[in-house]
Formats: sequence, structure tokens, C-alpha cells
Amino acid sequence: MNLKTLRLLPLAAFVVSLSAMASQDNAALIKQGEYVARAADCGACHRTVEQGGALFSGGYAIDSPMGRIISSNITPSKTHGIGDYTEQQLADALRKGINAKGQHLYPAMPYTAYQGMSDADIHALYVYLQQGVKPVDKAVPATELAFPFNVRALMFGWNLLFLDASSATLPTDADEPLKRGQYLVDTLGHCGACHTPRNAFMAEDSSRYLAGAALGGWVAPNITSDQASGIGSWSNDELAGFLKNGHVTNKAQAAGGMAEAVENSLRFLSDGDLHAMASYLKTVPAIASAHPVLSAPRTVVPVDMTTLEVGQGDQASLANASETDGARLYNAACASCHGRDGQGTADAFYPSLSQNTALTGGQPNNLVMAIIEGISRKGADLEVNMPALGGDLNDQQIAAIANYSLQRFGNPALNVSEQEVAQLRRGGDVPLLVTAMPYVLWLGGVLGVAIVCWWVLARIKRKREREILEKKNALNRRFHSR
Ligand code: HEC
Ligand code: HEC
Ligand code: HEC
Repeated sequence: MNLKTLRLLPLAAFVVSLSAMASQDNAALIKQGEYVARAADCGACHRTVEQGGALFSGGYAIDSPMGRIISSNITPSKTHGIGDYTEQQLADALRKGINAKGQHLYPAMPYTAYQGMSDADIHALYVYLQQGVKPVDKAVPATELAFPFNVRALMFGWNLLFLDASSATLPTDADEPLKRGQYLVDTLGHCGACHTPRNAFMAEDSSRYLAGAALGGWVAPNITSDQASGIGSWSNDELAGFLKNGHVTNKAQAAGGMAEAVENSLRFLSDGDLHAMASYLKTVPAIASAHPVLSAPRTVVPVDMTTLEVGQGDQASLANASETDGARLYNAACASCHGRDGQGTADAFYPSLSQNTALTGGQPNNLVMAIIEGISRKGADLEVNMPALGGDLNDQQIAAIANYSLQRFGNPALNVSEQEVAQLRRGGDVPLLVTAMPYVLWLGGVLGVAIVCWWVLARIKRKREREILEKKNALNRRFHSR
């Protein structure tokens, strides 16, 4: 080695360590992006239909009242994914709901929530989606909605009306953890997508922020700080624990869409972030629900139900058994796990039904849906399964079990009919948008005209104001130059 190369050695070492640092930075960025994708639950919708399909390859159909909306392939595939997206184009898709082709996305993609995403998070997410995810060169089926919803340009008017950037309820001097909590709840976690009711145009009703909403057959409960009908009486640890595992002993369990949110997203968040979310939720202005909830849990006296035995644990034979007595059905289909007295097991792995928001809440939906669909959920350190009995029990039997459970363990003011069970099975009430279609079309036209008029008038007004200002300035200038 001559003297010249020796002198270059430190420089070479410097370059090598720089590039090592850069790749370390890049790895950290990819990790940060993965965390953002978890917190924002991109995988919940951009998953494949097939079990075990590749991450983010899309094709999952979201049933909307307007038809099925298919999620896109967001792997870095150049042919079928977002491999050609620039960071700005990803930012526009997330914040404005406009894809790289300039098309308006349907709000099934929650850009109304993501509009508040920070530049740093979008940057990390971009690096992760481009470099940390395997490309999948596979097309997803096209989304074909009925007229007029297939006209994507209509979303321009909808965005003008409902893409409302002002959702902040926190004072500007709130401390950092609270702000972080709000960012995680409102922006990344888009909790309002399920927990805030929607208006006739399917936009979130900000006047009832997080006050609870119907969701298919399920109900996403009121999670405002209201003491009785919201989460005002929950401790921060209980809330954070619920988000982390979907289970709070003698309080609530997560099923339906909430089980999915826990499994796909929330169980991966840091304890600090989960506690920030809990603290923020406790500051959300209280809104009381219209449906009265049970104020204190019932004391349930155990009864001897041996006389009610009908092949306990033999659920499959129930539907054929034409048994319609709630007590007998409960004893056969539920008591093996939840106990005859509905108190569950001592370790609370099988939960109490008398201290459970699905039975003590103001609506019976989640009880009925848990019976029909069962529960399957992975939390951070708890995995649970309750069998889906919708195939084994008919509507009349489910209504009988639900009513027996409500009368004995839950809110006795509630009652479920066979017809209501049938309706919940079909996915709950048809939203107003479909039943009110003729009016909406008419109203849409009127609104469209109103928007155009308002826009033209606003421009004229602004032009006139500018002219007046210019005239004034000119006068001033003339005055001063004298
Ligand atoms: C609640 C469901 C849902 C979630 C959560 C979601 N998306 Fe989407 N996304 C969709 C749907 C549905 C579409 C297609 C919408 C359409 O066809 O108008 C879409 C479209 C997109 C597109 C446009 C693709 C194209 O080229 O047309 C991008 C990019 C995208 N999503 C990225 C993301 C990222 C990144 C996340 C997480 C931060 C995310 N999405 C979370 C449902 C979702
Ligand atoms: C996909 C829809 C969906 C999303 C997204 C969602 N939730 Fe839920 N949430 C539900 C449903 C449905 C329930 C009722 C679960 C049950 O009782 O089985 C629920 C229950 C809850 C409960 C328990 C309330 C009670 O009285 O039992 C809390 C707390 C909660 N969610 C908080 C959140 C937070 C915070 C977020 C955002 C990070 C969130 N949820 C996102 C659908 C959703
Ligand atoms: C094989 C055991 C098993 C059987 C049988 C069973 N459950 Fe469950 N149940 C569970 C488990 C496990 C959970 C969830 C516990 C958790 O989330 O931590 C659960 C949760 C529930 C919840 C809470 C759901 C929510 O949305 O909050 C209700 C209500 C419920 N069960 C009712 C019933 C009824 C009624 C029956 C009979 C038709 C029944 N269960 C049968 C195991 C069972």
C-alpha cells in the first residue's frame, strides 16, 4: 500500500460509516412507516380476500349502501399497485382523496380522517410502502357503483361540503400527550369512521362526534366522556387495556369491527400511545345517548337449571330441536362458558354477562350480533374465540336467548323480536341514503346548483373587494406622491 492510498483510508472509512448510518436511518424510517401503517390500519381494508394473501394487495370489498367498493392494491407494484406514486401523490390520496390518475376516491378510503396526517408520517409511510412491502402484480376487480355514485367527480361537491378540516376540540395550549392522543384517535385511528353517526349524505355528523353509530348489524357505542352512556366512568388503564387486548374484566369485550381494529392495529401500538388515546378520549365533550343504559349491574341469583337441560354443548342440534324456550336454549348454548348464572369463569376469561356493555347498554344489537357472528380476536397478549351460532340457531331462537339474557343479566328494558334479529342478520337498518334516494337526487341537484351559485357569488365578491382595495391604494399613492 503506498502513502497516497493510506492517506485516503480515513476518507473511505468515513464514506463507509456514512452509508451505514444512512441505511440505519432508512431502516428506522421503514420501521416508523410500518408503525404509521399499523396505527392508521391501512391493512384493514387493503387486504386480500384470500386467507393468507399478500399484505396490501387489495381486492377486499367494502359493502356501502351505494354498492361494493373494492380496495386498491397499494403494494409497490408498477403495473397494478402504487409503485409509480410520488410522495406528493400519496399525500394527495391520503389527505385529499385524489389518486395518482387525478380521480376522486370514495370516502370508504378514510381521507376525511387522514387529512390531518403529518408530513413526517407521510414520508415514513411512503418509504415503508415503496421499500418495505413486497410488490404484488395482481389487479383487483373494478368498483362499479350504481348511477349517480359511479360519477366520481360528484365527490368534488361532497368534499367541498364535508371535507371539513376543523375537527379540533382541544384547546391550543393542551399538553403534548393529549395532542398525540387526538392525532391517534382522529387522524390515524379514524375512530370516528365507526363511532360517529353519519348524516343523510354519509358524512360524519361532527355535532355528534364519537357519540355512537350503527354499523352493519353492530353498534359502535358512545365513546364520549359521558358518565352513563359513554366511557366517562372508565379509568385510563381500562381504556388503554381495552384498546390493547379488547377485554376489560367486568366491563366490556371487543367483537365485530372493534375486534378487527384491536387485532389489525391497536394491539401493535406502544403503551404510551394507548394511554395518550385514553387521556384524549376522556376530554371528548360528553354527549348522552338517546337509549337509556343500565346504571348499575344486576345482582344475579344463581338458579338450578338442571331441569332445563337440553343436550348441553350440543349446539348443532338446537335448530332442529325446535326449542324456543330462552332459558333452555341459554343453558344449552351459552352456560358452558358464561355459566348458568351468567357470571362467566372466575378468571374472567369467559366474561360475565351481567357486567358487559353488550347487555347493559341501551341497544341489544351487539348481544344479538355476538350470538350470530361469534368472536375471534387476537390482542397483544390475549386471544379469544366464541363460536358463531348464527348457522345453528334460527331467528326465533336467537331472540329467545337474547331476551332471556337481557331479562336475567342485562338491561331489562330491552326486548328483541324475531323480525329484528332477521334485520340485524341482513346488516341492520338500510341507511337513509338508499331509502331517500329520490329526494337525495333532487336535493343533490339543488345542492349542486347552490354550490355553483355560492362559488360564483363568492368570486364576484372577492373580485369587487380587490378592485375597491386597489382603487383605495391608488388613491393613497396619488395622495402621498403630491
Ligand atoms: C376503511 C378502509 C380503508 C383504510 C383504513 C385505508 N384505505 Fe386506502 N382505500 C380504500 C378504498 C376502498 C380505496 C379505493 C377507493 C375508490 O375506489 O374510490 C382506497 C384507495 C387508496 C389509494 C388510491 C389507489 C389508487 O391508485 O387508486 C391509496 C394510495 C390508498 N388507498 C392508500 C391507503 C393508505 C396508505 C392507508 C393507510 C394510511 C389506507 N389507504 C387506508 C380503503 C381504505
Ligand atoms: C370498524 C369499526 C370500528 C373502529 C374503526 C373503531 N371501533 Fe371501537 N367499537 C366498534 C364496535 C362495533 C364496538 C362494540 C364492540 C362490542 O361491544 O363487541 C366498539 C367498542 C369500543 C369501545 C367499548 C365501548 C363500550 O361501551 O363497550 C371503545 C372504548 C372503543 N370502541 C374505542 C375505539 C377507539 C378509541 C377507536 C379508534 C382507535 C375505535 N374504537 C375504532 C367499532 C369500531
Ligand atoms: C365456547 C365458549 C363460549 C360460548 C359457548 C359462548 N360464548 Fe360468549 N363469549 C365467549 C368468549 C371467549 C367471549 C369473549 C371474551 C373476551 O372478549 O375476552 C365471549 C363474549 C360474549 C359477549 C360479549 C360480546 C360483546 O360484544 O361485548 C356476549 C354478549 C356473549 N359472549 C354472549 C354469549 C351468548 C348469549 C352465548 C350463547 C348463545 C354465548 N356467548 C356462548 C365464549 C363463549
